[in-house]
Amino acid sequence: MARGVPAVLVLSGLLSCAVLGKYSAHQKQPLMRADFHAETTLCQTTPGLRRPQVELCRRLPDVTGAALQGLQVAVKECQHQFRHHRWNCSSLATRAKNPYTSAIFQKGFRETAFAYAISTAGVVLSVAKACSQGSLKNCSCDTHKYKMKVAEDLNSAWKMGGCSHNLHYGIRFSKKFLDSRESGADIHSEINLHNNHVGRMVVAENMQKKCKCHGVSGACEFKTCWRAVPDIRVVGRALKEKFRQAVLVYQSNLVNRDLQKNNRPNQKKRKQRTRLKQWTPYKPKRKRGLRNDLLFYETSPNFCDSDRTFDVPGTSGRYCNRTHTGEGSCSSLCCGRGYNMIKQRRTQACNCRFHWCCDVECENCTVEEWVTICK
Ligand SMILES: *[C@@H]1O[C@H](CO)[C@@H](O)[C@H](O)[C@H]1NC(C)=O
Ligand SMILES: *[C@@H]1O[C@H](CO)[C@@H](O)[C@H](O)[C@H]1NC(C)=O
Ligand SMILES: *[C@@H]1O[C@H](CO)[C@@H](O)[C@H](O)[C@H]1NC(C)=O
Ligand SMILES: *[C@@H]1O[C@H](CO)[C@@H](O)[C@H](O)[C@H]1NC(C)=O
Repeated sequence: MARGVPAVLVLSGLLSCAVLGKYSAHQKQPLMRADFHAETTLCQTTPGLRRPQVELCRRLPDVTGAALQGLQVAVKECQHQFRHHRWNCSSLATRAKNPYTSAIFQKGFRETAFAYAISTAGVVLSVAKACSQGSLKNCSCDTHKYKMKVAEDLNSAWKMGGCSHNLHYGIRFSKKFLDSRESGADIHSEINLHNNHVGRMVVAENMQKKCKCHGVSGACEFKTCWRAVPDIRVVGRALKEKFRQAVLVYQSNLVNRDLQKNNRPNQKKRKQRTRLKQWTPYKPKRKRGLRNDLLFYETSPNFCDSDRTFDVPGTSGRYCNRTHTGEGSCSSLCCGRGYNMIKQRRTQACNCRFHWCCDVECENCTVEEWVTICK
């Protein structure tokens, strides 16, 4: 997978990140006893981990810790991207320790596809960054060589001396940690694996080059550059777009695929190809391949009413926009039940004054405003 990364950069030198101060020997020392205990506790107290995940957690508790943090970042981003939707991702947030325990992960909705992809992306980002911060025992900066288009940089002297986020390791770990949840033996888990793949791909496609200038009095005579993973917001936006265009698939020629699988059991690529062939888009006119699309196999409920079996809270009590149509509007969010108007008090900064130099002093004012809340 990482070989398919759009080549952002090329390495020029042999400089490894070990020369960076950030990556000090101190941080590479074995974990203290207390940390060790904290981390093995993590493996025991995180709910809903499957057996291979627990085993991985025992072997690499620090990396797993970074992965779990990545899941939290992903859930936050999911909430941001879906803040105006009836399903607003809050059910994942309430499962703070492991969003996968939410029933939405057991379904095949469009929202499920997004949840799988963003979660995987969150794990990749978090692990890739943690590696380069030198806080993990099993990985450090990425030292893989990538080809690059250097056009913009031909004129300035720069070298790839910085400590790159370890995309490679992040991707590998996310496969071990998350793909291991899936048996891969049925179409549902194959679709989950596919959506995991889309999450990783979006991270890889959005890798950035970051540089730091060196030189006399801030002149940018030399630059040191490294590859950085994108911000989660960039990933969230890209996946949201894929969410909009997600493809409903149904199962076909399954028998055919099984035969092929048995004939060539070890050919991963072939397996992947047959996997994708086997999913037929619901709208057969569609021409382009499905490899880069989020896939789902169940039409979503309307998410209007609370439904425990899907872990759906419903939209009663949601703030909505009365003067607006479309996403976030009362007509959409309240599902025809109407809304209540409530006067609310809010504190905000006011009468701000600037003091030389450089303070801003504000008073706290209470403002009253009408808000609309779904019945
Ligand atoms: C990372 O962990 C794997 C599996 O536990 C092990 O095989 C490998 O040697 C480790 N690598 C480093 C650099 O510690
Ligand atoms: C998401 O929806 C839930 C349930 O309807 C609600 O309690 C929560 O405040 C909403 N979150 C946001 C950020 O709007
Ligand atoms: C409601 O939507 C309108 C139009 O898009 C917007 O100007 C306004 O700020 C929104 N109000 C709230 C409370 O979000
Ligand atoms: C305004 O409120 C904040 C916290 O809500 C508080 O920390 C601050 O001291 C308040 N400022 C004044 C001027 O009362």
